Amino acid sequence: MAIPIIIIPAILSKTIDDFQKDLDKLLNSKKLNTGWVHVDFMDNILVPNKSITVDDLKEVNFGKLKKEAHLMVKNPEKWITKLQTLNFQRIIIHREAKGNIKDYINLIKQNGIQAGLAINPSTAVEALAPYAGLVDVILVMGVNPGFQGQSFILQTLDKIKEIKTKGWPVKIEVDGAVKDTNAKEIVESGADILASGSYLLNGDPDQNLARLLDNLSQQKKQL
Ligand code: DX5
Ligand code: ZN
Repeated sequence: MAIPIIIIPAILSKTIDDFQKDLDKLLNSKKLNTGWVHVDFMDNILVPNKSITVDDLKEVNFGKLKKEAHLMVKNPEKWITKLQTLNFQRIIIHREAKGNIKDYINLIKQNGIQAGLAINPSTAVEALAPYAGLVDVILVMGVNPGFQGQSFILQTLDKIKEIKTKGWPVKIEVDGAVKDTNAKEIVESGADILASGSYLLNGDPDQNLARLLDNLSQQKKQL
């Protein structure tokens, strides 16, 4: 029996106008308007790019979408506190952030919000070990974070497999360059959740999702 895979559209925007355009695409779509949305936040310190801030989202109506924040920021504490007031259901910080990772995770979880820990391509899986029992999700980056539309780093597949063998009680989410052509391999490596930005949101999100799901359901070729 097939394991259900959750597909989450990712929005990375520098301005609230661009954010709203992508959000509208989701809210107007038939298949992606009631699931999750992955919102990328960047501080230009942990990653070489800057995004909208949490304050920019105060007036935004997300409809029925559940919100997941991906904090690509060096000092996540203030971001976490603000996200909690906007009812984000999952907050993901980076293992590469500065400060006490356990304290950040506890801060996220104190209001019943799900916590996630993201890991850059250059960071070893072992660096997750002290925290794997504390988080709901491990977010494996398939690109160096900061920009949409990059190429998928193939070694990510081995990293997902390595995390899977640990048997940690977490969901494995993969983010960065996920598309129709690689989704199946990523899922077969052990991913439970796929975050996809430019592939899903350029053009018609429903058609793009359908193509991705179609590729996911293809039988493995018999050798
Ligand atoms: C990368 C971001 C990703 C990005 C995904 O720094 O964390 O979430 O928005 O976009 P694509 O799928 O285009 O790589
Ligand atoms: Zn992201």
